[in-house]
Parts: sequence; structure tokens; C-alpha cells
Amino acid sequence: MKYIPEPFKIKVVEPLRMTTREDRLAAIQRAHYNGFALRAEDVYIDLQTDSGTGAMSHTQWAGIMLGDESYSGARSYFHLMDSARGLFNYGYIQPVHQGRAAEKVVFPALTKPGQYWISNTFFDTTRGHVGLAGGRPIDLVCPEGLDTASYADFKGNADVAAMRAFIAEHGVENIAGIVMTITNNTVGGQPVSVANMREVRQLADEYGLLLIIDAARFAENAMFVKQREAEFKNASLKDITRETFALGDLFTMSAKKDAIVNMGGLIGVRDDEELVQKIQANVIPFEGYLTYGGLAGRDLEALAIGLEEGLDESYLRYRIGQSEYLAARFEEDGIPFQNPVGGHGVFIDAGRLLPHIPWQQFPGHALAIELYLEAGIRACDIGSLLMDKDPVTGQPQQAPAEFTRLAIPRRVYTQAHLDVVADALAAVKQRADQVPGYEIAWEPKVLRHFTAHLRPVKV
Ligand SMILES: Cc1ncc(COP(=O)(O)O)c(C=O)c1O
Repeated sequence: MKYIPEPFKIKVVEPLRMTTREDRLAAIQRAHYNGFALRAEDVYIDLQTDSGTGAMSHTQWAGIMLGDESYSGARSYFHLMDSARGLFNYGYIQPVHQGRAAEKVVFPALTKPGQYWISNTFFDTTRGHVGLAGGRPIDLVCPEGLDTASYADFKGNADVAAMRAFIAEHGVENIAGIVMTITNNTVGGQPVSVANMREVRQLADEYGLLLIIDAARFAENAMFVKQREAEFKNASLKDITRETFALGDLFTMSAKKDAIVNMGGLIGVRDDEELVQKIQANVIPFEGYLTYGGLAGRDLEALAIGLEEGLDESYLRYRIGQSEYLAARFEEDGIPFQNPVGGHGVFIDAGRLLPHIPWQQFPGHALAIELYLEAGIRACDIGSLLMDKDPVTGQPQQAPAEFTRLAIPRRVYTQAHLDVVADALAAVKQRADQVPGYEIAWEPKVLRHFTAHLRPVKV
């Protein structure tokens, strides 16, 4: 697999600190074996998340200087409106400070206590906000989405038949709506086809349900659609984006991903004045005045520019190429991963790499800690540690797969960095049977993976 060269050159660099294995062991013990509690300077290659960790372009940095910091009606707000309305073709666009802020505004306004939200798969913060709003999140991904060993073009798709059956079984009055996450982060950054979106739209129309798009990685999804869905092979990414968003009623977006900003988010409402008013009523107390929504004017400016840059085809080919390069190295070394790779990184199937660790001891987390000890690489669990306990029964929940996610920040790491990652994983594989599982020493009630304390369980 040939590495696709960067379609940019580097103008600013940030030095990295090299550490020894002893340094890293002490650091992870201080962090209670939770990567989120590490000091970033103790990390060499940070693949914990692709969220807010990208490198902005010189145009975005120039935009930062042009940011208008007026409290209301800032020039930068109108720049963002031009850019976002043009791209998504939604009547109302609301800036917020990040994706979960959009969720906090939207879900309480649209959920009656005890109602279900159904999804191709909820991301953890979305799941958390549905729960906090009194709702019950249900994941209904297509069966191939969870079969990590076999290839499918659109593993992020919803299982529409299962959604229909769920609505029929529980009664439409008990369903608050449908959420389509594009790309589907939790099953490996896997894309959703426009064909699947159309089927879900049809289902929503049949039952009069609201369809929300969780659009954090809309640009990577559009690129996959162009590459894999025959109808769109000659379409522009802008056209694919418009076509996709025309199928939703509302979107929430963490702009920290595909809009390549360090902070920011959006809510969009296609065409529903009542919905807009409900959203505005929550934005002002939670996020601030409508024209800044928790962001500085300079952030609005960088976001307006990033929305366009993130949809550039040569950039997206290189970006997805980085994941494909890493996956090709893993394939040579016999490391199991979600195949094909997603847009924002590679999801190692830790359940298969570490079969001696039961799901209650978090194989995905165990592998992440081992990669840190091996080479200072920070990754994270997308498995049973990420699943909070069932809000109704209080019981631990088994994730559909035990992944270790290697998320690749945008425009940050080089081919040589990716080779360090591949070499480290190959070394861990050599001693896989000695890798310990983990148990929880302390955990909060919601979103536990961020702050839980863990300890190794003797092998
Ligand atoms: C699909 C998806 N939705 C929502 C979010 C939440 O966004 P934020 O981290 O900006 O709050 C994320 C973040 O990773 C995500 O991947």
C-alpha cells in the first residue's frame, strides 16, 4: 500500500518529548490507568481522538486574526452562516461550543421521559444526553457493521428492518425519533450510504418521526459515498453533502472533526420554525447569545473556513489514505481490525487480539494501556468500558465489539509516526498473552471512561 503524500507543507512545528518505559509506567500509574488522566507531554503519538486535535491551515489562522468579537451580530457569525447555509442548505444554523453542547440543547427539547431514540449507533456523549433527557438510546446497526473480519462498503448503515420492528413492537408514541451518525464512529468510523439514509427517511415519514443527523464526520462520509456508491461516483462532495442533509430534519455537529477546528459545533434545522424556537430557548441559557453560541468570534471565523477546507477532495483522499496505510501494515502483521478502515482511524479488534481477557476486564482498554507502555502511544477503548451501566437496571453492558481506537488527528502526523505505531503494535502482539485485563477501582455514574480509575488484574 503506497502512502498518499500530504497535500500541504509544514509551517509550524511542536516539539515532542521522548520518554522511557519507566517514565511511562510511572505516568500511567499516576493516571490510575486511565489515558484521559495522562499529561499530554508524557505522550509521544497521541491517537486518543481526532476531535479538536487537527492542525489548522494558514488561512484559518489568518481568519483567527479577522475574528469579530462583538457580542451580537458579529461579522464572523455572518461569514459562518454563509458558509454553513451554502453547504447544508438548512434554513437555520446555530453555532454552539462543541458537539455535546448541541446534544444538550436538542435532546431535552425533543424527549418525553421514557421514550426511545433509535440509531444506527449512538456516540457515547449522544447516548449520555439521551439518557440525561430521560430517553432510552437503542443501537440498531446493520449486521455486517459488527463483523470485523469481513469487508462491506457501508458498515455504518442502520438496520432499517430492525428499526421498523422496534417501532412496531414498542409503539410509535414511545419513540422520540431517529439519529443517524455519519460516519458511524462507534462501529469504526464506518460510512453510511445515501441509499440507507433514504430508507431511514422513508421509515421516519411512515411514522411521522424526526430524523436527526449526527454529522461530526460528514465530509469523510461524503468521500466514502463518492468512492463506493455507484450513483455518486461523478458527484462533487458538496452535492453529496446536500443530498445527504436533505434527508434529515435536524443535525447536530461536532465541528472539531471534519471542520478542522480546535473547538466548535453546530446545530442545523432544515425547515421547522417551532423546532428552531425550542432550540433557541435552550441555547441562550446554556451556550450564550444566538450569534456566538459559546464560541469566540475568531472561532466562528476559523469554523467558516474549515467547513470548506474539510470537504477538499485531495485532502480527504490523503486523510483516508493514512488509515488505509496503517491498516495495510497491520494486515502484514496479522493484527485484526475493523475492515475496511473508517475515515478517522483504525479500530483494532482487541477482543480477538487478546482473547484471554473477558469483556468485563475491557480488552480494548488493556491494549490501549499496553501501547502506551510500549511506545508512548495514546489510544482509547471503544468497547465495554465506554458503555456506561444500563441507566434502568444499573448492570454493566457488553459492547457489541471490543475495539481499541487509533484515531488519527487531521494534518498532524507523518508516515514515520504511523510506522512507529505499526511497529509498537507488532511488538505487543508478540507478548499478547501476558497483557493483563483491568478492573474498575472507582467510576462516576455517566460517561465513566473519561474519569474512571482502573487497576490491572493479574493474568
Ligand atoms: C459521532 C460523534 N458525535 C458527537 C460527538 C461529541 O462531540 P464533542 O466532542 O465535540 O462534544 C463526537 C465526538 O467525538 C462524535 O464522534
